[in-house]
Amino acid sequence: MTSEKFKLAVLVSGNGSNLQAIIDCIEKNYLAAEISLVLSNVKDAYALERGKNHGLDVVFLDPKIYPNRANYEQKIIDLLLSKSIDLICLAGFMQILGKKFIEAFSGKIINIHPSLLPAFPGLDVQKKALEHGAKFSGCTVHFVNEEVDGGPIILQSIVPIHDEDDIESLSKRILQQEHIIYPEAIRLIIEDNIEISGRRVLRKIKEG
Ligand code: GAR
Repeated sequence: MTSEKFKLAVLVSGNGSNLQAIIDCIEKNYLAAEISLVLSNVKDAYALERGKNHGLDVVFLDPKIYPNRANYEQKIIDLLLSKSIDLICLAGFMQILGKKFIEAFSGKIINIHPSLLPAFPGLDVQKKALEHGAKFSGCTVHFVNEEVDGGPIILQSIVPIHDEDDIESLSKRILQQEHIIYPEAIRLIIEDNIEISGRRVLRKIKEG
């Protein structure tokens, strides 16, 4: 008897190092999942190459050829539904998703963000953390809701900020932690080990 694997879609816009971390964890059997779709809104995103290198189904959907954002998002919704995706992982996907999209996959969209939320939501957050003089930053995996970078937090990792850091060195140190906690968070969901309680994501207490 074969059991259906947990189906991931990974939405990307750039380098795809988080996608790579997920691929590596699947290939090492740390994650009992398959990536059914890698979708980019940027044509030359290196993440697409990474997906192809591993034989994955990769798609570039050009936002510019759709009359508006709603049409574009509907196209993505249809594609994800057609593939019976269990979990949508935003991995450097630089587009804010609309209400309809979020409602269509309620509780099934997660994101990785390069700061310790709720500090520094939005863009250029490594720069903002440096400019603010923070001594620590980090990364956060969270469920996606309608508030940008505001959904319930699944996992976080703390990263120190050193005096000599610049955006590049800090981003690199944060990314190293992203590559650890993103697969970990996906595993918690695959194994049905967490539940959302208001704003909090709690470990499920399992009997036996
Ligand atoms: C990562 O640092 C991720 O946290 C960030 O983009 C980078 C993508 O890197 N995401 C955001 O800033 C989302 N607001 P990658 O393409 O190498 O995975």
